[in-house]
Amino acid sequence: MLITLEGIDGSGKTTAWEALHDTYPDAVFTREPTTSWYGEAVRRSLADDDADPLADLFLFTADHADHLSRVVRPALDAGKLVVSDRYSDSRYAYQGAALSGVVDRPVEYVRGIHVPFTRPPDATIYLDVDPQVGAERAGTNDKFERAGYLAAVRENYERLIGYEPERFVRVDGERSPEAVVESVEAAVERLLDSAGDGVREN
Ligand code: ADP
Ligand code: TYD
Repeated sequence: MLITLEGIDGSGKTTAWEALHDTYPDAVFTREPTTSWYGEAVRRSLADDDADPLADLFLFTADHADHLSRVVRPALDAGKLVVSDRYSDSRYAYQGAALSGVVDRPVEYVRGIHVPFTRPPDATIYLDVDPQVGAERAGTNDKFERAGYLAAVRENYERLIGYEPERFVRVDGERSPEAVVESVEAAVERLLDSAGDGVREN
């Protein structure tokens, strides 16, 4: 089963993802951008305010393709639980915002590029915080972390939830870290319980 954590910068994804390590020691914990050389290329581009947004999209997408073939698919084939801190929805939401005015219907465009090859998550835990809160928590290390930009990203996440409400579990990320972690852990437990009720294909 593939569970992803999504939300704007500073929403608490990494905090929740780290807490889950102790609860599910046999799971495979991974993240995007990855630590491969593709992920390093992505991070270089993140630090470059002048990077072309389409070039960014394809760098992030290359990193995703490598992540799928090298980490995600082998782990799922081995029957593991995979928990990813960010995944395809980050592209739909972030590059969907960055490509506004560059391509028509950017969120749908970015989704369309992924459809032929990606492996959609079984469930996505969405940590919801106000963009101002996210920006303050995250600091402003890269070009995608500014509150104005994060507001557009958050709207895109809401669109994605509207498209597939059954895939998402929304968690209020503005509470204490302990309360947020507890909600995320409860959500994962419920998801695993319900997966056990039926036969699930990778
Ligand atoms: P993300 O991975 O979504 O960017 P992090 O988990 O890295 O978020 O958290 C960003 C910053 O906010 C960190 O300094 C973290 O300690 C802090 N933080 C995380 N969750 C909370 C919370 N619920 N309340 C207050 N601060 C938080
Ligand atoms: P990340 O290291 O996960 O940052 P954080 O822990 O603060 O959430 O991601 C780095 C930045 O890259 C973040 O601003 C979100 C952005 N991003 C995209 O724009 N597209 C993507 O596909 C991914 C995975 C991340």
